[in-house]
Amino acid sequence: MSVEHNEVLQALFQRRSIRSFTREAVDREKVETVLQAGRWAPSGLNNQPWRFMVLFAGDSRQQGLAECTRYGGIVRRAPVLIAVLIDKASMYSATKDHQSVGACMQNMLLAVHSLGLGGVWLGEILNQEERALEVLGLDSGEYGLMALLAFGHPAEKGSSERKPLQELLLEEW
Ligand SMILES: Cc1cc2nc3c(=O)[nH]c(=O)nc-3n(C[C@H](O)[C@H](O)[C@H](O)COP(=O)(O)O)c2cc1C
Repeated sequence: MSVEHNEVLQALFQRRSIRSFTREAVDREKVETVLQAGRWAPSGLNNQPWRFMVLFAGDSRQQGLAECTRYGGIVRRAPVLIAVLIDKASMYSATKDHQSVGACMQNMLLAVHSLGLGGVWLGEILNQEERALEVLGLDSGEYGLMALLAFGHPAEKGSSERKPLQELLLEEW
């Protein structure tokens, strides 16, 4: 089957990070679909270590989170923010649990894109993880912050490049 007729592959190849949003609110139902997509990500031992907090525009914690990252402008203007956390008590292997949360993030980014929305994975905020957890009212002994997913109706197209495949292959195949 060609990419043209394969919606999953199209989403994979066409998704770009979107950092600018219109003021239009996002339907709650769509936010739930994004969360469901995250929930269905694969995880080691199926331990599902991810946890979520959903913040809609106007939430008093939005400004606090914006102050924890140099991408504060995106955080402040995002119609929806999903704080993605890891539940430390559910973990069994740091590497594999973090990989699982990465899969969860990618599922949510693809869901956002497939719903005609746009979003971006915000990781720089981890430089101020303790402060961000405090804003969210969470105990750093129980939860680790993995990322914020900021999304809404796109106000830009987004663009990015990739290294050629040849550069990524460590041997001929
Ligand atoms: C772990 C991780 C952390 C990221 N952190 C940020 C961030 O803090 N701010 C930001 O604007 N984009 C962030 N991004 C988005 C990347 O910049 C983006 O995915 C990359 O440039 C490729 O562009 P594309 O997503 O449009 O294909 C992050 C992506 C990942 C996977």
